[in-house]
Amino acid sequence: MATFDNKVVIITGCSSGIGLATTLLFLDRHAKVFGIDVSPFKHEITEAQQSAFGFHQTDLTAPKASEEAVAACIAKYGPKIDVLVNCAGITDAWSSADTLKDSEWERVMMINLTVPVRLMTAVLPSMKEHKAGAIVNVCSKAGSAGAAAGIAYTTSKHGLVCFGEFIVTLVAFPGRPLCRDSYINQVGATKNAAWRFHTENIRCNAVLPGGVHTNIHKSMNMECFDQAGYAAFSRPIFMLHVAKDEEGQPKPVIEPNDVARGIAFLASDEAKMISGALLPVDAAWSTI
Ligand SMILES: NC(=O)c1ccc[n+]([C@@H]2O[C@H](COP(=O)([O-])OP(=O)(O)OC[C@H]3O[C@@H](n4cnc5c(N)ncnc54)[C@H](O)[C@@H]3O)[C@@H](O)[C@H]2O)c1
Repeated sequence: MATFDNKVVIITGCSSGIGLATTLLFLDRHAKVFGIDVSPFKHEITEAQQSAFGFHQTDLTAPKASEEAVAACIAKYGPKIDVLVNCAGITDAWSSADTLKDSEWERVMMINLTVPVRLMTAVLPSMKEHKAGAIVNVCSKAGSAGAAAGIAYTTSKHGLVCFGEFIVTLVAFPGRPLCRDSYINQVGATKNAAWRFHTENIRCNAVLPGGVHTNIHKSMNMECFDQAGYAAFSRPIFMLHVAKDEEGQPKPVIEPNDVARGIAFLASDEAKMISGALLPVDAAWSTI
């Protein structure tokens, strides 16, 4: 089992769900964790863990919030940042292209895509200076498929992953050299960062969870709820994937800790030659 002795790990969305499970796992494995969340951190941690945990409460979508959060981490733990876990995120309300409101698009894209990229920008000077670093982006099955969420969430997670577009670009422009900016810009944030910094010992990977038992449903803006979108995607697709209880109601099988273990693996030295990988944590949902 990988440990993170004396490693400094920034985790966004640390107050709930996958981010909370990841925080507790990294603390168990001896990391110094700098957690960031807009919501208060209410989980009780042990006295031993307290000295290795710093909490920074901020709305990461605010201007300058990402760089201020990283500066606060450096002020607490020093200039070396070893790991960034981009986990904070929200879900959309199943809007499709025919019902989407600008406000819903902007709200979802900002925290799910813009903020993770801003945080990468903010930690890279430290990782480059120390010639090491690991970034793990929490994407989604919705980052590799079109039928798992509304249009805003799907696009935000594809932006963080964007594997399909890379293949399309290769096929459409077979003669063009891979290092051209026009190519790289279309690969998506995880793969772009993985390639760009692979000679500097900085890795970037993603986990793609299926449906996980968390509080994410509370982030849905019900004023934007699209019943037709929900009916088209949720019932036929989601119901295929989840286990059912005796009454046929969905029963989540993936727990936040299952995703946390995938994140920890990708962030650890056990994955030191793995970069640009998209790891499904979805009990085989990715196979359909
Ligand atoms: N739950 C699932 O089924 C599922 C599936 C695939 C991917 N994911 C992804 O996992 C990640 C974590 O989600 P979760 O399921 O644990 O949900 P969650 O709601 O339990 O946790 C998300 C956390 O992010 C924080 N957050 C939201 N907006 C923020 C902001 N503007 N600034 C700072 N913090 C903010 C919330 O306060 C919350 O603590 C998200 O990126 C989500 O898209 C979740």
